[in-house]
Amino acid sequence: MCGIVGYVGAKPALEVVLEGLRRLEYRGYDSAGVALVAGDALFTEKRAGKLAKLDKALSAGTPPAATTGIGHTRWATHGAPNDRNAHPHLGAGGRVAVVHNGIIENFSALRAELESAGQELRSETDTEVAAHLIEAEIDKGADLTTAMRQVCRRLDGAFTLVATTCDDHDQVVAARRNSPLVVGLGEGENFVASDVAAFIEHTREAMELAQDQVVTITGEQVLVTDFAGNPSEGKRFHVDWDIAAAEKSGYDYFMLKEIAEQPQAIADTLLGRFTDDGRLHLDEIRLSDEELRGIDKIIVIACGTAFHAGLLAKYVIEHWTRIPCEVELASEFRYRDPIVDRDTMVIAISQSGETMDTLMALRHAREQRAKVLAISNTNGSTIPRESDAVLYTRAGPEIAVASTKAFLTQIVACHLIALYLAQVRGLKYGDEITAILRQLERIPSAVAEVLGTVEPVRQLARELGDVETVLFLGRHVGYPVALEGALKLKELAYMHAEGFAAGELKHGPIALIEEGVPVFVIVPPKGRGVLHDKMVSNIAEIRARGARTIVLAEQGDEAVAPYADELIALPAVPTLLQPLVATVPLQVFSCEMATVRGHDVDQPRNLAKSVTVE
Ligand code: M6R
Repeated sequence: MCGIVGYVGAKPALEVVLEGLRRLEYRGYDSAGVALVAGDALFTEKRAGKLAKLDKALSAGTPPAATTGIGHTRWATHGAPNDRNAHPHLGAGGRVAVVHNGIIENFSALRAELESAGQELRSETDTEVAAHLIEAEIDKGADLTTAMRQVCRRLDGAFTLVATTCDDHDQVVAARRNSPLVVGLGEGENFVASDVAAFIEHTREAMELAQDQVVTITGEQVLVTDFAGNPSEGKRFHVDWDIAAAEKSGYDYFMLKEIAEQPQAIADTLLGRFTDDGRLHLDEIRLSDEELRGIDKIIVIACGTAFHAGLLAKYVIEHWTRIPCEVELASEFRYRDPIVDRDTMVIAISQSGETMDTLMALRHAREQRAKVLAISNTNGSTIPRESDAVLYTRAGPEIAVASTKAFLTQIVACHLIALYLAQVRGLKYGDEITAILRQLERIPSAVAEVLGTVEPVRQLARELGDVETVLFLGRHVGYPVALEGALKLKELAYMHAEGFAAGELKHGPIALIEEGVPVFVIVPPKGRGVLHDKMVSNIAEIRARGARTIVLAEQGDEAVAPYADELIALPAVPTLLQPLVATVPLQVFSCEMATVRGHDVDQPRNLAKSVTVE
């Protein structure tokens, strides 16, 4: 939600900031804007809509030369997505410019205070309040850093604020609470941004800031303090992916590239995590064997696609560890007074590591002394940092808003955790674990095989471009896959799509079936006996009522053929691993459907990649 960039150095700040915004646009695209420190004044330009609109406005004018600047790409919370509410926002005298990610929860009271002091605010945003307050502190004699600290101490909620001023040409000050902020450490130049992607082409040396820290950057210096002004330190890290990972590399969309990267992402997530004798070692899990043996309940919390990975985690965790496992939407968990204690392990799954609902749920769990294990794709992000332990997926940067490779690697991570628990608790013999790990190692080539056969799925999307409803049916681990297929289609193709547990069909959803309604059915492997046979009956039932059945089934599954209008053959894999292959055609279908319907695949309407507000 909202991408922010700040730059101080010797290069043209406008170019650096705009390029940074381009790489952060996935975080929000309701409006975009920049502020440059130009002589004794601030230059700002901002436009509602995507970055291209801002680019156009800037090209039509003559922006001044500047080497200090800030920029913003917005996902609107307070105030409509129009030019007036676009960031940056200025203080009353126009000498301080501020960009912001998050929500300042006490902004109404602060706004009332400013208005009663005679200040006129020009927008409906919470951000403008911060700009006015910072400038007011400077008017009273504070420097920009001190002003930022003073104001941050008065703010409630979640925020990353980045400010600059024409009173001092060569500095940008940023602060964070509950929202992401990283510093890029260059030679004679420094950066602040919501994500390393913004500065990766300039430097791969970075620093993450902790909660309630303020950083002041100049071309030569990076100074970190806490909100009280005490010297503090950020945590330095090296970004180990390069610029190519953040480029489309010839694909029309990031989503297509990320779908294609899935075999590698899975292989990377497995890499080095088991020893030559087939035992799992998960070094990052900083929980002792004793603590892991003491766990009597697991609760998985997550949102969206990560929640679907969590639903799958339940099957594998309970199957291999026999520890009871609940799965809950992070946004619900926190508010229902869940039963959690020191013997509970909470697994928080989040690609970005910044999702506010998941973060708040994990804090709630830790307050009750549960052990929290994060599964995340983003090194050093808030959720892993605040957890007791972490298992990183290694999908590389996921830029398309629709999650694909992160999902498959989250499923793999859940398998690894379940097997690790089984190993530590002595529930599985070494050779059993080795055998399962060998099956996992074959998954990248199985996914690659599916990717090689998806052209008919694209063709089907082109044929079905005009339908209004698509349904998805699954049983057992096929059920979360059905939910994920429907979510992808909703978010990308803006159509009615629903996933159901096939056993629920006759309890209501079957009423939705009418002539020609496309229904994707995920069929368990043939070897699953009753489970498989029940699914075949379900296909027959919906087909008899006119559904157009698109059946995903194991290669050579003769039993389903008579009831399948379309048959998508999946490589034979064990049942618990089937979601890793069955999800792929559904991703491809949604992506193609969005293209056919003329939508922006990478930036679907109303959405943003990381949801950093509740
Ligand atoms: O970064 P997270 O994994 O915490 O994000 C959770 C959801 O917001 C995310 O999976 C969302 O549902 C995706 N856009 C779905 O494709």
